Amino acid sequence: MPQLIVTTREGETRTLEAATGLSVMEVIRDGGVDELLALCGGVCSCATCHVHVDPEFAGKLPPMSEDENDLLDGASDRDARSRLSCQIRMNDGLSGLRVTIAQAD
Ligand code: FES
Repeated sequence: MPQLIVTTREGETRTLEAATGLSVMEVIRDGGVDELLALCGGVCSCATCHVHVDPEFAGKLPPMSEDENDLLDGASDRDARSRLSCQIRMNDGLSGLRVTIAQAD
């Protein structure tokens, strides 16, 4: 099973089992990390699932939709590595993906 490596806002790093087809947001939430509010439940309308993705994986991520880009524009902690974790589905090619939870707005 693919693995996801997540760093919390406190700097704690955890390795989570990440079933193919689940979103990164779902893996983090189901893995017991409670820092992601994910208020909209994963339908790309809240931006409370904001993470920073390791640049090493940038080329393997699905393209960013206009909606995701617009939502991230409202996030104070946005940078070139920003993505909404509900918009990234795990697959074997993403095993070992490293993300850091963005600071809350
Ligand atoms: S959970 Fe709301 S945008 Fe990702």
